[in-house]
Amino acid sequence: MNARPNQAEPDPATDGVTPEGWTPASWRERLEAHQVVYTDPAAVVRAKEKLASLPPLVTSWEIERLKGEIAQAQQGKRLILQGGDCAETLADCRPEVITAKLKILLQMSLVLIHELKKPVTRVGRFAGQYAKPRSSPTETGTVDGKDVELPSYFGDLVNSVEFAPDARTPDPHLMVRGYQHAAMTLNFIRSLLEGGFADLHHPEYWDLRFLEQAGLSADRRAAYERMTRNLADGITFMENLGEAKIDDLTRVEFFTSHEGLNLVYESAQTRRVPRRPGYYDLTTHLPWIGERTRQLDGAHVEFFRGVRNPVGIKLGPKTDPDDVVKLIDTMNPTDEAGRVVLIARMGAGNVADRLPPLLERVKKEGRTVLWMSDPMHGNGTKTASGIKTRSFDAILSELQSTARAHREAGTILGGVHFELTGEDVAECVGGAAGVGEQDLRANFASPCDPRLNYQQSLELAFLLAAELGGG
Ligand code: PEP
Ligand code: CO
Repeated sequence: MNARPNQAEPDPATDGVTPEGWTPASWRERLEAHQVVYTDPAAVVRAKEKLASLPPLVTSWEIERLKGEIAQAQQGKRLILQGGDCAETLADCRPEVITAKLKILLQMSLVLIHELKKPVTRVGRFAGQYAKPRSSPTETGTVDGKDVELPSYFGDLVNSVEFAPDARTPDPHLMVRGYQHAAMTLNFIRSLLEGGFADLHHPEYWDLRFLEQAGLSADRRAAYERMTRNLADGITFMENLGEAKIDDLTRVEFFTSHEGLNLVYESAQTRRVPRRPGYYDLTTHLPWIGERTRQLDGAHVEFFRGVRNPVGIKLGPKTDPDDVVKLIDTMNPTDEAGRVVLIARMGAGNVADRLPPLLERVKKEGRTVLWMSDPMHGNGTKTASGIKTRSFDAILSELQSTARAHREAGTILGGVHFELTGEDVAECVGGAAGVGEQDLRANFASPCDPRLNYQQSLELAFLLAAELGGG
């Protein structure tokens, strides 16, 4: 698009930060894992042009602020809490669903702040988490009584979950719809936070009624109520002492993240901004590269090496320490603080063997990264009747063994990454409320991986705080 008639596009190679050979389109020269196969190229061009002409979803100021907070977390001065859906759906762009997700992240962060005595940055896995890699490109099912093979569901940015030929055909216009729904979600979140939804002066806004409904044990509820009161009292005390409002303490910031899987979508919103060098992916603050798309010579690494955002990289149990160093070199040759987030998702049973070699190698190379734990994606199982689930115990165990590995290696676990929802679903088994396999069929709402429900999430925050706080 020629959107800037009076402004010659500066050469990426000379702006001082954009890596050599990179352009917003250089990924097209590389093999793209999990590439979406669109059948109507003209419709792809229309969608791309539309996206490129629309305002950004986030700003470079916010992105740089998050980078600064990640840099603090790299030094152990802050914790990054990332959480939300596996696959967010357009239908979930509803006030009650968004409010519930925001609330559980805020409440978890409150528990962590209180117990760890350090600030927590909240990063939603929502407001744009609409694209999914799948293990198989197609799925066989029945339509009108006949067995047929159709494309898998790749997330609402690409196609629709319903098993029907039209629904499963990738539709480029869904990229525009995804953008619009991300914008509506963000708009609501920004207004809520601006309007005092999360003001710690008012612990009553942190909604204790919600807690009662969630069937949390009396002990935990009392502990939570004590924390909100303590925090509110502490803020009042400090304000009295300083005779001023402590806006920085009470202003809640919120950042977004999603898997940067669909590079047509990501690149269409990637641009230069006034008075800052380089390119920003303005669909989200923190994009991440998935375990299935992090090939060193692949399109995703090529694309994300050139943007100024912090970038997450998922690391599974087969990750080779040499590859991690090469990935860091490629993504962050200048060792900029706050830029690289390594999200280990090993599986509870693999952590002790697989994580320490990575931690030690990165430490030996002296590279600046944020180590984050995703205790979800290595712990998938299936019930005897074929329902995908994860056990609360395995999730907790991965967190605990990850924290231990960091203690032993002398490295810092600076972030955690969860698939969760503020709603009362039954997708993961276990936790104090005892979700069992028999509960899953009736209340499994995720179109993709199983999420922790409201109560499991809050319970995990308490247990994580105990593990990280040494309590
Ligand atoms: C995900 O985060 O939903 C995901 C697919 O993760 P991973 O790339 O780690 O498998
Ligand atoms: Co997932």
